[in-house]
Amino acid sequence: MSSDRMTLRLKIWRQTDANSPGKLVQYTLNDVSKHMSFLEMLDVLNEDLIRKGERPVEFDSDCREGICGTCGMVINGMAHGPLDGTTVCQLHMRHFQDGDTITIEPWRSRAFPILRDLVVDRGSFDRIIAAGGYVSVDTGGAPDANSVPISKISVDSAMDAAACIACGACVAACPNGSAALFTAAKITHLSHLPQGQVERRERALNMVAQMDAEGFGNCSNHGECEAVCPKNISIRVIARMRREYLRGLVVR
Ligand code: SF4
Ligand code: FES
Repeated sequence: MSSDRMTLRLKIWRQTDANSPGKLVQYTLNDVSKHMSFLEMLDVLNEDLIRKGERPVEFDSDCREGICGTCGMVINGMAHGPLDGTTVCQLHMRHFQDGDTITIEPWRSRAFPILRDLVVDRGSFDRIIAAGGYVSVDTGGAPDANSVPISKISVDSAMDAAACIACGACVAACPNGSAALFTAAKITHLSHLPQGQVERRERALNMVAQMDAEGFGNCSNHGECEAVCPKNISIRVIARMRREYLRGLVVR
C-alpha cells in the first residue's frame, strides 16, 4: 500500500435512539488517505455502509472549519482527538498510522443525552445562553471599532473568552461533567464589554442556576476542560465566573 494510504480498524459507538442500549461496533476501512480529515474518513465509511444497505453512522458537523462547534466526538478517549487546540473537523488522518485501531464515542454526559450514534442533544447549552448569555441594549448598526473606548486588556480578555464555540468538549472531558468552562467563557466575554454591563449582575446568577438545573456537575479544578478545549479557553475564566457570581450576590 502506498505510504499515504492506510487501513484502519474503527470501533464506533452505535445506538439507535436515546432509549436503546448502545455498543461499540467494529469496521475495517481500507485505502484511507492521510490527507483526509477525520470527518471525511467517516464520510467514506458511511458511503461503504450505504452501498452495503447498512445504516450509516450519524455524527454532527456543519462548517468543517473549526468555527461552528457542532462536530465533536471522543477519539481514543480524548475529546476532539489527539491534537491540541483542534476540532474533529480540523483533525487529519496523517496523525494516525496504518493499522491503527481508533475508538470513536459520543460525548458522555448526563446533560447531553445521546440521540443516535455519535450525536448528542446539546440543548442544555442553548438554555444556559438563553438564561443570560446575551445583551439587550440596542447597539444599532456596526460602529467603528474605535468609537467605543475599551481598554486593550478588556478587549483581549473579551475576545479570548468569545473564542468558545460551544462544542461541549469541556463537559465530555470533565470527570464531573461540569459545564463551568463553557458558561464561564460566555460570562467572561460579556463582563469585559460596556454592552454587557446592563445585565451583568443577573447574568452570572441566572446562567449558573441554569447550568445547575441542567444537571451539569460542579467544577473541582481538575483542568481536563482546558486541556481538551479546541479554542484554548483558559481555566482562568472560571475564576472570573466565580467573582462575577459573588458580585451578583452583593451588588445591587
Ligand atoms: S470552552 Fe472550549 S471545550 Fe468548552 S464549549 Fe467552549 S470551545 Fe468547546
Ligand atoms: S464542523 Fe464546525 S467546528 Fe467542526
